[in-house]
Amino acid sequence: MGADVVLASEQDDIATVTVNRPDKLNALNEEVIARLATVFQSCRDLASTRAVILTGAGERAFIAGADISVLAALDPKSAKDTAQRGQRLTQLMENLGKPVIAAINGYAFGGGLELAMACTMRLAVAGALMGQPEVKLGLIAGYGGTQRLPRLVGQGRGLELLLTGEPIDAAEAHRIGLVNRVVKKETLLDDARALAKKILAVGPLAVRHTIEAVNRGLDVSISEGLAIEADLFGKIASTADMKEGTSAFLEKRAPKFRGV
Ligand code: COA
Repeated sequence: MGADVVLASEQDDIATVTVNRPDKLNALNEEVIARLATVFQSCRDLASTRAVILTGAGERAFIAGADISVLAALDPKSAKDTAQRGQRLTQLMENLGKPVIAAINGYAFGGGLELAMACTMRLAVAGALMGQPEVKLGLIAGYGGTQRLPRLVGQGRGLELLLTGEPIDAAEAHRIGLVNRVVKKETLLDDARALAKKILAVGPLAVRHTIEAVNRGLDVSISEGLAIEADLFGKIASTADMKEGTSAFLEKRAPKFRGV
């Protein structure tokens, strides 16, 4: 993996992508963002990869945000380009067509929390701190935080986090729906894999279509969202997996999904 700012490994159809700058608490510079984009593109394109886990190297941080030394040098043009590059990465992750699980092993600040929010689900270790501290730097969130945080936790709670810049711990993040589960540090990756495996056991096309229905539906009115759902429900009925899943139930046997 070149300079190894991002590591990728594969086990049981599940890719683990690790941001690897532990001496800088895995802060995101341009090289990390570019590597993550390349790695997630191959996760999307490889049929053998059926789920992805995103985590951070070292004991302390998931990702402590965008690299502040890079932010300090931005001008209006390069700042907008930087935001758009990060946002493209979040959209790639969000619409990968496969589950992406954030395994939050420590600090998830700024761009780190924004990448986690672009994941399909989030697990966090007890005590992990997360937040959007950009305002404390005189900045605003730029990798989708102003958009995804209110969608995940509601406008009032989202604005509180975005405007105070204060961190919350994993327990509070769980209480407000920002993370799906709080787990022990020692079992984080196993727990993430176990969750991924539950999803791998169901039909991959059903997973892909469900992610698409939810993501596209969140951007439109409920009637447009229902139309998207009906359209995808029609499409899924043309798949062999749908015939297999329903037949297997009626024949009282386990389904064998093939993703077609
Ligand atoms: N960008 C660049 N470097 C960062 C960074 C970031 N977002 N977060 C941490 N680092 C670097 C530190 O500069 C330090 O580097 P150094 O050893 O060369 O001095 C190293 O990572 C360790 O961080 P340090 O601050 O010494 O650890 P700490 O335990 O005292 O504090 C944090 C941990 C996470 C509370 C603190 O690093 C922090 O507030 N980071 C910035 C978080 C942030 O605002 N992110 C959003 C950016 S928009």
